[in-house]
Amino acid sequence: MARHDSFTATGRNLADMEILVAGGTGFIGSVLCPELAERGHDVTALSRTPEGLPESVEPAVGDVTVYNTVVSAVDDTDVVVNLVALSPLFEPRGGNQQHDEIHRGGTENLVRAAQTAGVDRFVQMSALGADPDGTTHYIRAKGRAEAIVTDSELEWVIFRPSVVFGDGGEFVSFTKKLAPPYLTPLPGGGKTRFQPIHVEDLVPMLADAIETDTHVEETYEIGGPEKLALAEVARLAHRADGRSSTVVSVPMALAGVGLSIAGAIPGFPMGKDQYRSLQFDNTTASNDITAFGVSETELETLPGYLGVSGAPWDSLSIADPSLLDPLFEFFPPL
Ligand SMILES: NC(=O)c1ccc[n+]([C@@H]2O[C@H](COP(=O)([O-])OP(=O)(O)OC[C@H]3O[C@@H](n4cnc5c(N)ncnc54)[C@H](OP(=O)(O)O)[C@@H]3O)[C@@H](O)[C@H]2O)c1
Repeated sequence: MARHDSFTATGRNLADMEILVAGGTGFIGSVLCPELAERGHDVTALSRTPEGLPESVEPAVGDVTVYNTVVSAVDDTDVVVNLVALSPLFEPRGGNQQHDEIHRGGTENLVRAAQTAGVDRFVQMSALGADPDGTTHYIRAKGRAEAIVTDSELEWVIFRPSVVFGDGGEFVSFTKKLAPPYLTPLPGGGKTRFQPIHVEDLVPMLADAIETDTHVEETYEIGGPEKLALAEVARLAHRADGRSSTVVSVPMALAGVGLSIAGAIPGFPMGKDQYRSLQFDNTTASNDITAFGVSETELETLPGYLGVSGAPWDSLSIADPSLLDPLFEFFPPL
């Protein structure tokens, strides 16, 4: 990877920075931290239980929801990267308000600590569709977190990726859980589209945003090379396991009622927000990977990663979802 042997106007050596990656032990962080160390930086990964890190990465214990626990880790740092996450794919055991506590409140604490410590730059991992007035707790918390970052005195860069795949990621395993093999019932026929990007393709862009000044005050929508319907992802994931998948369309309204009822069952991971998020495509309007000198043809595809072909998929629809939706109009909106 390229190193940048240059200095900023304030004298910061871009080739040898102190970088704190909050959430650095997670799926994306565990690829980003070694990449930054390899580029010559001193990297610290902060999390509640920072275990399993490579020798090149320092651990720091902290909970972003508790301000005092992050202060010392942020001290003497050039750049803070916020990768702390609470997955939107499953309903949190502690309730949906945890999205606000962790994504918005955690960002607020990290930004405050960074400003107090005189940190130069803050790189915020957000998500496609982030909106303070959005329809899910996750999307609202991500939108409010973005506003905290952009209102701060720090240099900032925001990434809004679609789903990220790769070893240790949960997108493929989640899809298999939501959409079992053989006869696969999916809300709305699984037509919701995603634009999966491989973690190894995303991480160099994050590292470039940390190292170079050209991305400051930019918000990037980032996606992979293909827009795939959920049904296609399910078919590809099952095919990689040597199983077939014939999609059976479940009307959106019926799926909403089903998830709403199932969400009330202790231990069932999905609820209203997961249903709501399936009603909108998770794709970029214009893929901002070009800002990093990257084109879609260079990126790993999901079929390529899974080692299967991306041939057109077979779908069996027991009913056009839109025809059956009126039957469920008497259920309160989710
Ligand atoms: N993966 C995707 O498909 C995807 C798509 C779009 C956006 N994103 C965003 O990308 C970022 C990274 O996602 P990821 O998939 O790498 O997440 P992840 O694998 O779930 O990792 C989450 C990290 O956050 C830490 N963490 C959680 N709660 C914390 C707290 N209260 N205080 C301190 N650390 C805490 C976890 O460590 P501990 O449990 O030890 O604390 C872990 O290091 C997140 O902002 C996520 O919303 C991800």
